[in-house]
Amino acid sequence: MTASSLLTVDHGARQVSLDVRDPAFYRDPNQVYAALHAVTPTFYWKEQKQWYFTGYDHVNALLRDRRFGRQILHIASREQLGMPAPLPHTRHFDAAEAWSLLELEPPEHTRLRTLVNRAFVSRHIEKMKPEITELTHQLIDRFEKDGKTELLSSFADIIPVTMIARMIGIPEEMGPQLLKWSHAYVRMYMFARTEDDEYAADRAAEEFSDYIRSIIAERRANPRDDLLSHMVHTEHKGQYLTEEELISTAIVLLNAGHEATVHQIGNSVRTILGSDHSPQALFRDAAATERTVEECLRIGAPVHIFERYALENVEVDGIPFQRGDKVGLILAAANLDPKKFTDPLVFKPERNEAPNLSFGAGIHFCIGAPLARLELNIALPILFERLPGLKLASEPVVKDVYHFHGLERLDLEW
Ligand code: HEM
Repeated sequence: MTASSLLTVDHGARQVSLDVRDPAFYRDPNQVYAALHAVTPTFYWKEQKQWYFTGYDHVNALLRDRRFGRQILHIASREQLGMPAPLPHTRHFDAAEAWSLLELEPPEHTRLRTLVNRAFVSRHIEKMKPEITELTHQLIDRFEKDGKTELLSSFADIIPVTMIARMIGIPEEMGPQLLKWSHAYVRMYMFARTEDDEYAADRAAEEFSDYIRSIIAERRANPRDDLLSHMVHTEHKGQYLTEEELISTAIVLLNAGHEATVHQIGNSVRTILGSDHSPQALFRDAAATERTVEECLRIGAPVHIFERYALENVEVDGIPFQRGDKVGLILAAANLDPKKFTDPLVFKPERNEAPNLSFGAGIHFCIGAPLARLELNIALPILFERLPGLKLASEPVVKDVYHFHGLERLDLEW
């Protein structure tokens, strides 16, 4: 099936019909994005009932445009906007999200982000290098002699959750439980979620919050050298974070801190093995490794769409938006814009073109980008160096979800 046969396009109205549950789409969305660039980079997606942008310049500008925000309830009420009331069965989820960085706009966003950012970037990231290296080797030691492995469960799942848990100060043995909570929780962000997903996410949010609350109490009494203790005990302009703010922040860091990185490790390995480049050349030195990691992020981004509310009436690319309208920004498609990238569907680590938008831009730019990049720049070269004969044992299975893009399984042998 060709990409254009998955799309029904009304050219004049720039309307597109596209089923996110069609495996031909979610298994290879890049083909559809290329077709959209050719016919209508800005389009109204009938099934989602809103406008979407795929053009690099539009996505990049909208991420930074302060007339748009991730939140709108700071300037208007639900009644004014005609928004439905919150669902009673997602109240724990909503409470956990209430103070998430991803749900806030300035001034709250600035206050929370400043506090986390300081600890996050400057104090903790670089010093994790030896730990990430050691963990990567330990994991490979476990399966090297087997001659085969399923890389997501034996490797990709473990590195990001272990690192973010250590950084925040959650005991490492909680890793498997954190993964369970997080998997249930992030179903809320998927297209075509079911009511069962909502109940499961709410249960996960309740248990996750209770657990974080107990750790906060411990750190209040006995601070350690970890991010949670830092958040509990640091004041910003004379104020401490509230319990709710601490819980939301810890949860968003734990969830965002591994889900995307897990997929990115899997997607990168798949991209490299599917290319005709030799891993030795791709990872020959730090600069080549960095270019390889960035090109994998461009062509195989793990999270495809982020949304914004129009905070005022505004026109973009000839489309008039009313205050409260939502727009979708397809980051993964912007990374394939033929106006910015030559042969956009081809993996070319040597390219020296626009930076990829996989970590976003503007005030919500991924706070974990330095950590995710460090993990990828350390784990990928070690994997390929230790297992030089690495190859696919079977066709990788893409996860049956959208707008996350990752693998269900990645069976490898060497
Ligand atoms: C390859 C891995 C990752 C990708 C592709 C990714 C992608 C993104 C993107 C696109 C955004 C911006 C969302 C928007 O503008 O609406 C974002 C925000 C965020 N990310 Fe990441 N992320 C990754 C890893 C991480 C890690 C490791 C952490 C945590 C340590 C993290 C924590 C966050 C947080 C807290 C935000 C919200 C920031 C804010 O709203 O100010 N992410 N991420």
